[in-house]
Amino acid sequence: MSLKITPLDAGLGATVSNIDISKPLDAGTIAALRRAWLEHIVLVFHDQSLSDPQLLDFTRYFGELEYPPYKLLNYSQGSGQKADIPVEINVISNVIEDGKKIGQLGNSEAKWHTDTPFVEQPPSASVLHALELPPSGGNTSFMNMYAVLDALPPALRARIEGRRCKHDVSHTSDGVLRHDYEESKDASECPGPWHPIVRTHPESDRKALYLGKRLYAYIEGLPVAKSEAVLDEIWDIAIRPEFTCEHVWRMGDVLMWDNRCAMHRRDEFDGTQRRIMHRSQLKGEIPV
Ligand code: SIN
Repeated sequence: MSLKITPLDAGLGATVSNIDISKPLDAGTIAALRRAWLEHIVLVFHDQSLSDPQLLDFTRYFGELEYPPYKLLNYSQGSGQKADIPVEINVISNVIEDGKKIGQLGNSEAKWHTDTPFVEQPPSASVLHALELPPSGGNTSFMNMYAVLDALPPALRARIEGRRCKHDVSHTSDGVLRHDYEESKDASECPGPWHPIVRTHPESDRKALYLGKRLYAYIEGLPVAKSEAVLDEIWDIAIRPEFTCEHVWRMGDVLMWDNRCAMHRRDEFDGTQRRIMHRSQLKGEIPV
């Protein structure tokens, strides 16, 4: 049976069927997947079973692997991941074994964010594989940042076009201070790189809003209160349901998304249940 791409009935996303991504893929299939990924922003593959090397091999079909954030930021405490996990894998999990967290993000809500915008060259893609899931909760939602940009009223768009946003590195997307960082006086003082708020996607050539995360974001050249007000105005539009899709995870799902034109968030789930996901990421470009 040939590869089938079925768009979701939502603001973005498509399901890919008739494919086993643990197997070697031919050039035609890889090209079709890349086209679908660029068009739909999030690809959903059900019923997959990938070892870590297979997840990395699949990701490599689309570019060069990128390290997880803890490695890019040189966390002094490391990641806590087990030694037998490849260094390019980012374990997303609430599980604690022998008193140690085996992964990142815990069980609480992960607020809207794009992956690792707090480095000069953020990853272009993330690929997340569900290995253990709680009976409910932990759904992951995505937001189409092309569509959000297109929906901004002209006056609001004019206020941000050509400006840059500071992408705070010192806090996680939940506002928790990272190891090795100190609290800043306000969002304008937080450490982190500047990226254009409106960026041009290097492959699709389309413009997308690039927000990073809401908390501790700061728009260049504005008083902090004004920056907060403009960001709030943008976020009121961004979270409209027509720009999003919600994924209810099944065991074996693999999701691949484009960080250059999508944001995502994850619901909280019961912390007494186990959730283990392995994530790979692709090296991206400096946003322009
Ligand atoms: C992430 O933010 O990359 C993880 C999303 C999830 O845990 O579903």
